[in-house]
Amino acid sequence: MPTLFDTLQLGAVRAPNRIFMSPLTRAKATREGVPTPIMTEYYAQRATAGIIISESVGISQQGLGWMNAPGIWLDSQIEGWKPITAAVHEKGGRIFCQIWHMGRMAHSLNSGQQPVSCSATTPPGHIHTYEGKRDYEEARALRADELPGIIADYAQAARNALRAGFDGVQIHAANGYLLDQFLRDSTNHRTDQYGGSPENRIRLLREVTEAVIAAIGAERVGVRFSPNGKVQGTIDSHPESVFIPAAKILQELGVAWLELREARPHSDYALAEVTDQPRLSPEIRKVFTNPLILNQDYSQKEAEEAVETGRADAISFGRLFISNPDLVRRFRGNLPLQKADMATWYGVRHGTKGYTDYPFAT
Ligand SMILES: Cc1cc2nc3c(=O)[nH]c(=O)nc-3n(C[C@H](O)[C@H](O)[C@H](O)COP(=O)(O)O)c2cc1C
Repeated sequence: MPTLFDTLQLGAVRAPNRIFMSPLTRAKATREGVPTPIMTEYYAQRATAGIIISESVGISQQGLGWMNAPGIWLDSQIEGWKPITAAVHEKGGRIFCQIWHMGRMAHSLNSGQQPVSCSATTPPGHIHTYEGKRDYEEARALRADELPGIIADYAQAARNALRAGFDGVQIHAANGYLLDQFLRDSTNHRTDQYGGSPENRIRLLREVTEAVIAAIGAERVGVRFSPNGKVQGTIDSHPESVFIPAAKILQELGVAWLELREARPHSDYALAEVTDQPRLSPEIRKVFTNPLILNQDYSQKEAEEAVETGRADAISFGRLFISNPDLVRRFRGNLPLQKADMATWYGVRHGTKGYTDYPFAT
């Protein structure tokens, strides 16, 4: 029976334990999406995670519409990542780059252009921009002849990630961003070969994954889904009809690992989610046989149970890694856990507060 402290081979990368750090946007980059020096210390502090999945990293100007989030399409951004990946490796860690196109969740005041999506829709709620809080804008529906350019941006971002020293990439197909907008029927109203049937809605994910694999090899590629529930206004009426075949395709393509963020009832994360849709991980596990990483609301005990019973190969932790840089050691020694302060989750204005100042256990 595997434990959380056993190694796990993920394609080309061997994780020394199964306690992974999930992707966490912290918004500490420059306005040009260049990583800043405090990010080096933050990631290096967390290098004992089995693997670190980086915060979401924009693949293009069009796709990056979050204030102070980093990118990976410019040379200056690639250079900015190099000390971070080097510091993680120096501490014995491994780090994957979560490659991200926000689609309709971007804002023109952050990205300089009207957001794009599969269809012309407007997300609910508001977003922080460089000019203050604003409602989301209506996205422009992408023409089919624009998609090859976006696919090429993903592939180039993957190449850039390796140049920047990352061990691989995670394609972000979760949380209501561009690929998830295409996958789910609340946001995808297209009538061409990228909309309608589940097979058509999966097409962009498949083409992106194929291009990223051609660029850097399947053994360095992971994917993230958030199949059940509603996130940022994106939901599917029958998630099993799209995410199970999508996972099967990823397995056929040889994707090295898949991470699922699964909503739970009564979660204190993302309160607005509809959580009456069942978790799909048991069904996905049958069709995706490479390592499966599960996420959201796991305690150490639940994580141990999931790995021991074979429901998951590893568990990724988000909020616990914000406030416990030495989470692996704390789990191993049954040491008390610190709670993350929501007030300092995002933004350059907090500086190192709530970022690099959570103490290590003594
Ligand atoms: C501050 C914060 C930032 C996040 N940023 C991202 C992100 O950039 N990409 C992503 O896929 N998920 C992101 N998430 C979701 C987390 O990866 C994770 O799914 C969530 O925190 C639930 O896991 P937990 O219960 O272990 O915290 C973020 C969550 C938080 C709290």
